Amino acid sequence: MESRYHAVYAEWQADPEGFWLEQAKAIDWVDAPTKAFDAEAGVYGRWFPDASCNTCYNALDRHVAAGRADQTAIIHDSPVTGTQRKLSYAELLAEVKALAASLQDLGVTKGDRVIIYMPMVPEAAIAMLACARLGAVHSVVFGGFAARELATRIDDCRPKAVLSASCGIEPGRTVAYKPLLDKAIELAAHKPEATVILQRPQLHAAMTEGRDHDWAGLRDKAMAAIAAGRDVPCTPVKATDPLYILYTSGTTGQPKGVVRDNGGHMVALQWSMEALFGVKAGEVWWAASDVGWVVGHSYIVYGPLLKGCTAVLFEGKPIGTPDAGTFWRVIAEHGVVALFTAPTAIRGIRKEDPEGELPRAYDLSKFRTLFLAGERADTETIRWAEKALGVPVIDHWWQTESGWPIAINPAGLGLLPVKYGSPGVTVPGYYIQILDESAKPLGRGEMGAIALRLPLPPGALPTLWNADDRFRSAYLDAYPGYYATADAGMIDQEGYLYVMGRTDDVINVAGHRLSTGEMEEAVSTHPAVAECAVIGMRDELKGELPCGFVVLKNSNLLSADAIQDEVVALVRERIGPVAAFRRVIVVDRLPKTRSGKILRGTMKKIVDRDAFDMPATIEDSSALDDIERALGR
Ligand code: COA
Ligand code: AMP
Repeated sequence: MESRYHAVYAEWQADPEGFWLEQAKAIDWVDAPTKAFDAEAGVYGRWFPDASCNTCYNALDRHVAAGRADQTAIIHDSPVTGTQRKLSYAELLAEVKALAASLQDLGVTKGDRVIIYMPMVPEAAIAMLACARLGAVHSVVFGGFAARELATRIDDCRPKAVLSASCGIEPGRTVAYKPLLDKAIELAAHKPEATVILQRPQLHAAMTEGRDHDWAGLRDKAMAAIAAGRDVPCTPVKATDPLYILYTSGTTGQPKGVVRDNGGHMVALQWSMEALFGVKAGEVWWAASDVGWVVGHSYIVYGPLLKGCTAVLFEGKPIGTPDAGTFWRVIAEHGVVALFTAPTAIRGIRKEDPEGELPRAYDLSKFRTLFLAGERADTETIRWAEKALGVPVIDHWWQTESGWPIAINPAGLGLLPVKYGSPGVTVPGYYIQILDESAKPLGRGEMGAIALRLPLPPGALPTLWNADDRFRSAYLDAYPGYYATADAGMIDQEGYLYVMGRTDDVINVAGHRLSTGEMEEAVSTHPAVAECAVIGMRDELKGELPCGFVVLKNSNLLSADAIQDEVVALVRERIGPVAAFRRVIVVDRLPKTRSGKILRGTMKKIVDRDAFDMPATIEDSSALDDIERALGR
């Protein structure tokens, strides 16, 4: 089949507003948009300015009304607890209504913020949808983040309530969430009025009288009230009202609160499911990520449900739960047609099953496509997966900020030839421009900063939470008229994008986006540390791993080993285990420019054993020898 990609891209380019108004017809609006875009509103314009809608209605109610009541909406497959649970669209709607009623009783109304700090259980999705139903703004915080990270987010978005669980299950250990939540509330200046805690059978959390509410208790009460006639309708919101805030790493310890609206988000996700991922209503789709990340928001919860798909919500790991065949077991057992995961997961599986034997034990006949994103997909990994699975393996590139793919090989429009090393071509809705440092557009094949011409399409962030100025300075000021992605790369003669990596302090550890700047802030709080630099070190499994270089104060009496252990513990305590910060190297000094700037780029090249040119501005080149020595070379 010839790909329709070029025709569809041209159609969008000829009339972007008409294109999106057309896609908007797939959504059920309270007030349908008559206008696609208002260039005068917001920071760079707003999508569907005169429309109103409800995201939960589109994800659930309308499907139940249209005959999908008995179709499975969510399959919770949890090898870590040895359980499975299926919720039909009607059952999911009933759960969402019950929780929405409970939240109403706790005083949550339209526009209020609610933090969700939960493991991968259906209640996490129920929580998101219940907020959406009420027009409340959720902010999901990844369970692998520490109390202090949670506290930062509580203070930034000032939630009325926090929804959490007694525990998460990691292979080999139960992670008690409630003490982390208690500590976060203690650390935060803002105090949420109420929490709702899901008690899991694996661990019972201690509750604080008056503040903490038992999820199951509230649910039963609300279900009874609903059975007795209580109505929990969807609250109409403006298409431009926020649906959620998702914090993501920037260059400092203050994470950026990416805002997602209701209308544009629905239109973009609904369109993307079929056009980009080739998945139709009624099919089983699986994004093996976590609800704490953008992939979880867009493609575990909202995208598949908006489309009327069955979504797999997987609580486990690609390896060790119980083995490297788990992914193939899930695909076979539930009839998954497409899987979206991070390359690191496939690298992990490949390490354990280099010959690709495990997939052969399963019936993968329904499986059509493997999608990879979140970090660079290396060619070896793609080739291994192609061979082991016998399906196209499609790399694609996007960010928390965009909310949905910016570059992909669009399966639904018809695949173009795969080019290894490229995440594909520009998605309709986006215009990618490679720029040089002076914001001059570069030609095909030339490497530079990857920028997106404004306006961004529906679904992409309109701003940062309560921080329009930070949004401008972080993303829009560098290249007037463009959004700066902070990735560098190039576009080849045939329009394929190549992404080389970040130009800022963000690193990518097992597909998790983390800030080395934030880790440096944590490391430098250790009393013995005079100075430090955290670098993303190349890693075969996780892509990158943080590596800290520390210079100690003269007054320090601790051994290097003791310092290392303490600094590692400190980062785990302040940021969380997800940082995977395990390596600290003590050096006499850090290489710097004459103006005192730490030469992090050069340090990274040394650590990765890449060739580098001696920076002309280096103050003392022997500092680089110190690094080599400290690395034992
Ligand atoms: N709650 C609490 N802790 C969590 C957590 C959560 N939700 N998720 C991860 N952690 C912890 C882990 O237990 C681990 O802790 P440890 O240091 O005590 O071992 C640490 O955070 C790092 O976790 P992880 O990145 O998952 O690494 P791992 O070594 O346990 O597993 C892989 C390696 C490759 C299997 C794993 O990284 C993986 O599945 N990656 C895919 C990631 C992914 O899907 N990203 C999608 C982003 S779109
Ligand atoms: P996140 O906001 O967590 O989705 O991380 C976004 C960042 O991950 C991007 O800015 C890239 O640096 C990186 N990234 C995501 N997908 C890819 C990909 N397919 N190839 C290369 N880098 C990627």
